[in-house]
Amino acid sequence: MSARSETADPGKVSDDFVTIVEVGPRDGLQNERQIIPLEVKLSLIHRLNRTGLKVIELTGFVHPLWVPQLADAEKFMQGFKRQEDIRYPVLVPNLIGLERALSVGADEIAVFTAASEPFNQKNINCSIDESIARFKPVLDAAKSRGMRVRGYVSCALGCPFQGSVPVADVVQVATRLADIGCDEISLGDTIGVGTPLHAKRMLAAVSSEIEIQRLAVHFHNTYGQALANILACLELGVRTVDASVGGLGGCPYAPGASGNVPSEDVVYMLRGMGLETGIDLEALVDAGRFISDALGRTNASSVGRAFKSDKKLGSKHGYQIG
Ligand code: HMG
Ligand code: MG
Repeated sequence: MSARSETADPGKVSDDFVTIVEVGPRDGLQNERQIIPLEVKLSLIHRLNRTGLKVIELTGFVHPLWVPQLADAEKFMQGFKRQEDIRYPVLVPNLIGLERALSVGADEIAVFTAASEPFNQKNINCSIDESIARFKPVLDAAKSRGMRVRGYVSCALGCPFQGSVPVADVVQVATRLADIGCDEISLGDTIGVGTPLHAKRMLAAVSSEIEIQRLAVHFHNTYGQALANILACLELGVRTVDASVGGLGGCPYAPGASGNVPSEDVVYMLRGMGLETGIDLEALVDAGRFISDALGRTNASSVGRAFKSDKKLGSKHGYQIG
């Protein structure tokens, strides 16, 4: 059954505006072994709040034993300062997660499943069918409260356990998420193995069933292909891109996966293409530098490193600062 509908977000129709969904605080930090102090997480949000980002995924109400780094989700939600013009989705795997999220004022959620059975079993301990059945009451409850819901499809370009993933499987899972009411579907290259033609082929197939305005791309950067994959998908018309400041990220249940595409690098590329994001790149670089330093790690964003060595480098090469 086609998931096409007339419900696409009218705020996303402008062809020269790209919405960056900053997933650093959730995807970026969830894989860190050392528990990061709450003040550091809150300080990161404080900096991200000042960048012009429109969407920041905050945390996840997953089982604290499965992802210990996010065990502070409630405290985090109670501690951060909400800004009216920013949306703050949180990850929710089931009804228990939804109840926890609602109890601390979450007003937008994301559910997550995969196009690969073995990955789903490792990540959320159930089959794809079971995950959809689990999400249905979550969607119903969220929708009855007027909440916006995103659905993730992991392993859209490959799986750490099964290897290649047929495009038809991605289309099927994405369509099922759209059919149960997800407003937006984020297509994830969880382990960062995809290349541009594959990404384009996958997106073309999914967008033949679901309007491109309802689709987002979520590329990890393990093989350094994420920017190229994003460019290929922009050419097909996608205008929502997930990214992580400082290139942080990874999934604890996706062995070998590295961070998400760095938000700074995406914004720099989009500016160079004349695509607007509303984001102040210098403020974003500042946030990436802050969290990289706090974690004692080299900034994985090329733009972040280049700005550090020469603040004007970007402008010399075409990017207009300020
Ligand atoms: P389970 O063990 O199958 O859960 O875990 P269960 O329903 O059988 O319940 C077992 C116990 O857990 C019960 O407690 C529940 O109450 C409790 P008991 O009765 O034994 O005392 N429980 C919970 N507690 C707190 N919060 C909850 C919750 N749910 C049940 N929400 C579950 C299933 C989904 C919970 C678990 O597998 C889990 O938390 N997995 C999360 C894994 C994860 O977070 N992975 C990373 C995010 S996905 C990702 O990064 C990919 C993405 O970025 C896109 C991409 O890159 O592709 C999104
Ligand atoms: Mg991810």
